[in-house]
Amino acid sequence: MVVRYKSLLAVPKEISDQIAAQMLINTITASVLIKAGHNSLETPITLPVYILQNAAASGVGRLLTQVALDRGVRPIRLVRSHQSAEKLQSALPGPPVYSTSDSNWKEQVREALGGYKLEVAFDAIGGKAIDDLAEVVDDGGTIINFGSLDTNMGTNIYSLIPNNVALKSVSIMSWFRLTQDEKQKDFELALSLAKNHPELFEVAHEYEFVDFQKAIQHVSSPGKTGIVLLKSPI
Ligand SMILES: NC(=O)c1ccc[n+]([C@@H]2O[C@H](COP(=O)([O-])OP(=O)(O)OC[C@H]3O[C@@H](n4cnc5c(N)ncnc54)[C@H](OP(=O)(O)O)[C@@H]3O)[C@@H](O)[C@H]2O)c1
Repeated sequence: MVVRYKSLLAVPKEISDQIAAQMLINTITASVLIKAGHNSLETPITLPVYILQNAAASGVGRLLTQVALDRGVRPIRLVRSHQSAEKLQSALPGPPVYSTSDSNWKEQVREALGGYKLEVAFDAIGGKAIDDLAEVVDDGGTIINFGSLDTNMGTNIYSLIPNNVALKSVSIMSWFRLTQDEKQKDFELALSLAKNHPELFEVAHEYEFVDFQKAIQHVSSPGKTGIVLLKSPI
């Protein structure tokens, strides 16, 4: 196999293959998201900056939380059940986690903001989750959608109107248009997170290639935590 030298990243021995297999894709996504979030803030930026993120227990969600914390941003995390909230709080303690199964989760988020503005919310779920986030962000805020874990249908565009909310989509594909220097910074970020926060790269299960159908089923099975890995037969 022939690949471009600049596309390769030397992985130190201390990083396991299980972490190396997932560290780039999810870190790059988190990095692209945090940049989009930063660019959505009103200038001059007033501190503290809060962000709201749903599906916060996902692999990308966990990395987004950590990258935000490392940059002095205060994340507020949403998950869909108390069980998931407890698991996330014990795996990655710190920022508040609320379950959207609580009818008053929006009030809980408001309380956590303590009167500060919420200008940016990250959505990985789609559909009605976007309407819900639009009720919580402040006037002129932005919802950044990057996934549709639930559905990519059913968003009521009128939900954006009361708070003049902008809806923005972010795809990892934009990363490939960055300069080599910017890409290098993300490689370094991935290596640093992998070394210093291996707990962010949980593995749900590793499957032999012949069991690829089981692996595919596992990806969307309820209660899954961590990434599903498929081993190469070579
Ligand atoms: N835009 C891009 O370029 C890009 C790149 C990579 C990933 N993504 C997106 O990022 C998101 C996360 O990916 P991932 O690989 O990090 O996920 P993951 O690790 O597989 O985690 C999935 C998480 O989502 C939650 N979830 C699943 N279905 C849900 C639903 N219907 N409503 C609410 N929560 C739900 C699960 O919560 P429970 O704990 O409750 O089961 C779990 O915590 C996905 O939407 C993916 O498509 C986008």
